[in-house]
Amino acid sequence: MCGIVGYTGGRKASEIIYEGLKRLEYRGYDSAGIATLSGGEIFVGKKQGRVGVLESLIGGLDGNTGVGHTRWATHGKPSDVNAHPHCAGKFAVVHNGIIENFAQLKERFFCGVEFSSQTDSEIIVRLLNEFYDGDLLSALKCVADVLQGSYALAVICADFNGLAVLKKNSPAIIGYGKDGNFVASDCPALAGECSEITILEDGDIAVVSQDCVRIYDGDLKPAERGRIKNLATPASLELGDCPHYMLKEIYEVPASVERTCAGYFTVEKKVSEVLRGIDRIIIVGCGTAYNSGLVAKRYIESFARMPAEAEIAGEFRYKNPVITPTTAVIAISQSGETADTVEAAKLALSLGAKVIAVTNAPYSALTRCADAVVPVGAGPEICVAATKSYTGQITALYLLAKTLAGVSAQASFEKLSVMPKLCIQTIENIDVSTLADMCARSDGAYFLGRDIDYAVALEGSLKLKEISYVPSEGYPAGELKHGTLALIDIRAVAVVIITDERLAGKCENAVEQVLSRKGKAVVITNVGGLEKTFEGRAEVIKIPKCDMYLSPLLSAIAVQLVAYRTALLLDRDPDKPRNLAKSVTVE
Ligand code: M6R
Repeated sequence: MCGIVGYTGGRKASEIIYEGLKRLEYRGYDSAGIATLSGGEIFVGKKQGRVGVLESLIGGLDGNTGVGHTRWATHGKPSDVNAHPHCAGKFAVVHNGIIENFAQLKERFFCGVEFSSQTDSEIIVRLLNEFYDGDLLSALKCVADVLQGSYALAVICADFNGLAVLKKNSPAIIGYGKDGNFVASDCPALAGECSEITILEDGDIAVVSQDCVRIYDGDLKPAERGRIKNLATPASLELGDCPHYMLKEIYEVPASVERTCAGYFTVEKKVSEVLRGIDRIIIVGCGTAYNSGLVAKRYIESFARMPAEAEIAGEFRYKNPVITPTTAVIAISQSGETADTVEAAKLALSLGAKVIAVTNAPYSALTRCADAVVPVGAGPEICVAATKSYTGQITALYLLAKTLAGVSAQASFEKLSVMPKLCIQTIENIDVSTLADMCARSDGAYFLGRDIDYAVALEGSLKLKEISYVPSEGYPAGELKHGTLALIDIRAVAVVIITDERLAGKCENAVEQVLSRKGKAVVITNVGGLEKTFEGRAEVIKIPKCDMYLSPLLSAIAVQLVAYRTALLLDRDPDKPRNLAKSVTVE
């Protein structure tokens, strides 16, 4: 989603905002822009492209107050004119979110007026200019009263040396710096600048100057929101010696598993309290988080023998879900801000379910609404493709399922404690170069597996298509012969994950079916003897042996590395895949 940053204080605003935007680029990289205020005049620099396009513009943007934006295009193509900030009269505005009634508002207030951009956001600045009669706060309130949808807005006004902020259904934080104050979408933008932040709530309006921050609720009554520590540090966001964040974050998988285990001890009691009397589980998430939910379904059904369903969060909301007072919903989200997941959790709460959030983001919208929070110890994940957060989620969900089965974290930890070492062995020892080369040359890659391996196959397929753009699908291995086999020919690659001895024979059949149709097959496995079975016919990538249920922690590393290497062979940027953004805060 888009990222916003604002600063007002004693230093050159454009330079500080530019640094903040670089740290928020994972939220979108279609265009970038900054507006500053100097001598009662607003100056704007904006351009299509990544945040780096601003480097040559910031010198010309004077002033100690300003707002900036990095865009993930929703309404209006990526272009210079659609880049934020948008300006009208005395105002410049940056926006993260979607104004759902922008067409109606345009018709009502600006009938016949030609707008400069094709964005939904321009209406905001036009309205501010329309409603402003010298009283900034009441103009902001009038705008908030007519907007529908989601927004985090940072505003500068030529009459006020400071920032105004409006927030509803999109994240916004205030940061307190040494020589000025900030607004941003997320903590990393303020790393190194602010050790303390305030998280705004829906409906809040904030007026921020160099020395003072005033926060009002939707009725313009002063609101106390409290300050918390900013956990993002410059060190946690640095690339170090790695060429890409994706690789760095795969290297951090072992630490993610370890920290998630440690974190679980602090919440075990609370989780078991919330789960008391529960007899049915629904797991919701999007993308990778949904895929980890599929693994969790297996865990819950196997360990606790309790019915569990995994649902795509955006679908769950609109299917009139069956919820009883003894249903618990587990909402999984790396960012804790994914609109579909947060709304699914809120719907579940409103229907009387208990909600447990599994997330990396301790202060996110998801954690604020949940009955209990299971922390994922992955730390900040910058690459758009989820890697260490997936394995952290799997770890957390394994422990959660054990709690549901009445097994203590201490007892579960015995099996988990060897996993960080096995993750390191996997990262260091496997060679995915042949498979990556096959994928890069293929017309399509098919990830196959059964049971838990099928859940990882879906994740492998998502990862490959997301960062290499090679068409890819994930299938249960047994389903191949029911349709997908028609796509297998000399230009197709099948990646078959086999970590379950019981099902190995059945999965071998799928490999044979691919080979007999002249497709290429690669097996990712820790089952013995398969190298011999497929010698000279199919590549076999060996991962370490481990507890059957924990194998996703290792097979996931293999498919993540395959996606990464394939992306490099095809000259894609693995950290910033086209058309995507890391945190999707709109529906
Ligand atoms: O922040 P979340 O975990 O809620 O994000 C959900 C998906 O948008 C995310 O997992 C997406 O699928 C990843 N880019 C996949 O690598």
